[in-house]
Amino acid sequence: MTDKWQNLKDHHAKVAERHILDLFAADPNRAHDFAARAGAMLFDYSKTNIDAKGRDLLIKLAEVSGVAEKRAAMFAGEKINDTEGRAVLHVALRAPEGEVITVDGKDVLPEVRAIRARMAEFARHVRDGHFTGQGGRITDVVNIGIGGSDLGPAMATLALAPYHFGPRVHYVSNVDGAHVHDTLKGLNPETTLVIVASKTFTTIETMTNADTAKRWMAEKVKNPGAQFAAVSTAADKTAAYGIDPARVFGFEDWVGGRYSMWGPIGLSLMIAVGPEGFDDFLAGGRDMDERFLWAPFEENPAVMLALVGIWHNQICGYATRAVLPYDQRLSRLPAYLQQLEMESNGKAVAVDGSPLVVNSGPVVWGEPGTNGQHAFYQLIHQGTRVVPCEFLVAKEGHEPDLAHQHLLLVSNCLAQSEALLRGRSLDEARAIMAKKGATGAELERQARHRVFPGNRPTTTLAYPKLTPFTLGQIIALYEHRVFVEGVILGINSYDQWGVELGKELALALQPVLEGKADTTGKDGSTAALVAYLKP
Ligand code: F6P
Repeated sequence: MTDKWQNLKDHHAKVAERHILDLFAADPNRAHDFAARAGAMLFDYSKTNIDAKGRDLLIKLAEVSGVAEKRAAMFAGEKINDTEGRAVLHVALRAPEGEVITVDGKDVLPEVRAIRARMAEFARHVRDGHFTGQGGRITDVVNIGIGGSDLGPAMATLALAPYHFGPRVHYVSNVDGAHVHDTLKGLNPETTLVIVASKTFTTIETMTNADTAKRWMAEKVKNPGAQFAAVSTAADKTAAYGIDPARVFGFEDWVGGRYSMWGPIGLSLMIAVGPEGFDDFLAGGRDMDERFLWAPFEENPAVMLALVGIWHNQICGYATRAVLPYDQRLSRLPAYLQQLEMESNGKAVAVDGSPLVVNSGPVVWGEPGTNGQHAFYQLIHQGTRVVPCEFLVAKEGHEPDLAHQHLLLVSNCLAQSEALLRGRSLDEARAIMAKKGATGAELERQARHRVFPGNRPTTTLAYPKLTPFTLGQIIALYEHRVFVEGVILGINSYDQWGVELGKELALALQPVLEGKADTTGKDGSTAALVAYLKP
């Protein structure tokens, strides 16, 4: 344990047994003071065991870890991804007019804007019928990509469904042929546009699915290549694949895959919501960038979200965190955050190669409320492990005629964090059982099943409405959270070496399953499974 963690560990040891309700009892302003705001957005972290001293220590931790310095370095285009020698500049994709961001001495923003203008023109043409398929106006767009080339735009396309006024947009990611098969089934190849989205243009899942889609299209369309577009950093490879450079939208290696939805990887989203909707999304991201850059740590939503995360994972030792959007259209947010957070901060060594002295980032998981309530909330309320929960909820929905359902949704969200905070004591449970007529040992036994320990930490991110702007704010908020947590852990959040070994072994296993190689050197389990699964 290095010094920088010790004060927080000591503080935690002193307050660990305390009830969060006592913090509210002692401080009538707690709800106001333990919250950070981003315009109309509210991040409430008062239902945690963080007190003023804990917060001061967390902020100190951020300071001594160099968050401000690293933040400046990232925004200035320094090569902070130093295992790959790359700058980390997804913020450049949403930078304001007039800004200058240089990489290797060159301002990158003119190119960012030029590509966005080309994307917007193409998106408009697809939407207004200027660009057509062999059978006429494009009715369906199929985005083929995986990981960062899928999760962000797919999540956002679903999130912004009320803002779609264009062709239907579908996403294919899994190499499982079922995915591409089920997606293409029922589509008309003559009115379908395929967008192959891959930063590297080498990812086996994406290239395999692209080949399948091309074959499918070729059955009906004379020149399928004319209904293909590509999004990639590898112009040579998109050209080799036969895609007209007019429909290729490039970006630089300083955009990490899981941070790339703000640029060309967002093309399918832009087609779905239109260039104006996409601009609003960028504006939301930019708004959060400004707050991240300039708000004092205590008032800075991204910094405070990160510090609450550090408190729960590295200090309290809670291994997972649940992301629980009470917003059905954010149903893919947990999956998106799994990549963003776990691919970024799931690492065991610090930048200098030394082992981490604390746990790496947590396991992130979740499902939208209220569905999760009828599935896994049992464990969250009464299980033996504490799962910090992050609720997200909008003040207003998009269905004015169903406003009563929105109120029900909100009351459920608030009820869950209240229940997790308050719990139910054994005495309260006994009173409930007595009212039901139970007596003696049976009353006692039944009462114990109805106890809720409570004192379980939660945060709530409340926002006016899930508009493109708000979604941009939310995504940038989480990106910066990952950055701050990564800096405090001392890791490089922008590489992903942990995905390589499995890819290499899969490549080697393919000929084994095809019967072209044997299982020499494989462990017994793998050899036995090959024997079972080999066609
Ligand atoms: O395997 C992990 C990964 O490299 C992710 O980091 C990335 O988002 C995804 O694969 C897809 O990569 P690409 O966009 O190059 O196809």
